[in-house]
Amino acid sequence: MKNILVVVKYALFNPRNFIRLLSRIPYIIRGLKYAQNWNVNLNELEGLKENHKSDAENQIQQIYNKNIVGPGVWKWAHYLDIYDRYLKKFVGKKMSLVEIGVFSGGSLGMWQNYFGENSFIHGVDIEEACKVYESEKIAIHIGDQGDRNFWKKFKQENKRADIIIDDGGHHWEQQIITLEELLPWLNDGGVYICEDIHGDIHRFRAYCEGLAFYIDACDISVMPADSGLISQKMDFQRDIYSIHSYGFLLVIEKSENKDHQFMAKKNGTEWQPFLK
Ligand SMILES: C[S@@+](CC[C@H](N)C(=O)[O-])C[C@H]1O[C@@H](n2cnc3c(N)ncnc32)[C@H](O)[C@@H]1O
Repeated sequence: MKNILVVVKYALFNPRNFIRLLSRIPYIIRGLKYAQNWNVNLNELEGLKENHKSDAENQIQQIYNKNIVGPGVWKWAHYLDIYDRYLKKFVGKKMSLVEIGVFSGGSLGMWQNYFGENSFIHGVDIEEACKVYESEKIAIHIGDQGDRNFWKKFKQENKRADIIIDDGGHHWEQQIITLEELLPWLNDGGVYICEDIHGDIHRFRAYCEGLAFYIDACDISVMPADSGLISQKMDFQRDIYSIHSYGFLLVIEKSENKDHQFMAKKNGTEWQPFLK
């Protein structure tokens, strides 16, 4: 009932967006059906060469695989490639990372090893026992990630971070609160990762689909002398560069530059007449 009221209220106060949302449903269903029936036989695709994947491990996979003894770290294997893809730009730099969910401490060491001696790692956990993993360049903060007051104090006491990894309680409400508290606080050019978004109807995943909806909001106008197109960015589009969806995991990149508009400037002097 509460959810129905949320929908009705949104429809009444944001009719334009509500229609945009509704008009997507048939295409969401079309995409669902396509994905559900996905059955590509490579042999039937003429000219498609088999994709030979390199067996070489990236640096973070090597660190993970060598962690045979000592503090435990527990990640889905496919995450390691995703981490390297988005996080390698911080390796060797002066940077800081916040990981929610410390458990047995091994992931904190993994991050420190990967990013190098200029890194600073914050671990956040609800269990007091995790304090044992504190060291010169690792701070442990005890608190509940679902508590906005905890984050308020945390943000007052610590400098903005470059990376946030949410691997804590994995409950959708905790994940939403953590994102709402930390995404605005994350440095420009920073990366936000939320892990272990399992399940068919995951409310945090649905929430992020709402965020992604705004990534392609457009308000297009023609530039003077027909020299191209511009679209004014909403504040969210200005600050959030991209949202990526992976199996069980989501990545959000914050913008490095705070451009206020998307621009498609025409370059060249010769144009076909058929596209005005
Ligand atoms: C999956 S484990 C973390 C694994 C670790 N990051 C790793 O890679 O090995 C989840 C951790 O989240 C902590 N946790 C559960 N609920 C929490 C909450 N509400 N706030 C903060 N931490 C929480 C648990 O105590 C546990 O240590």
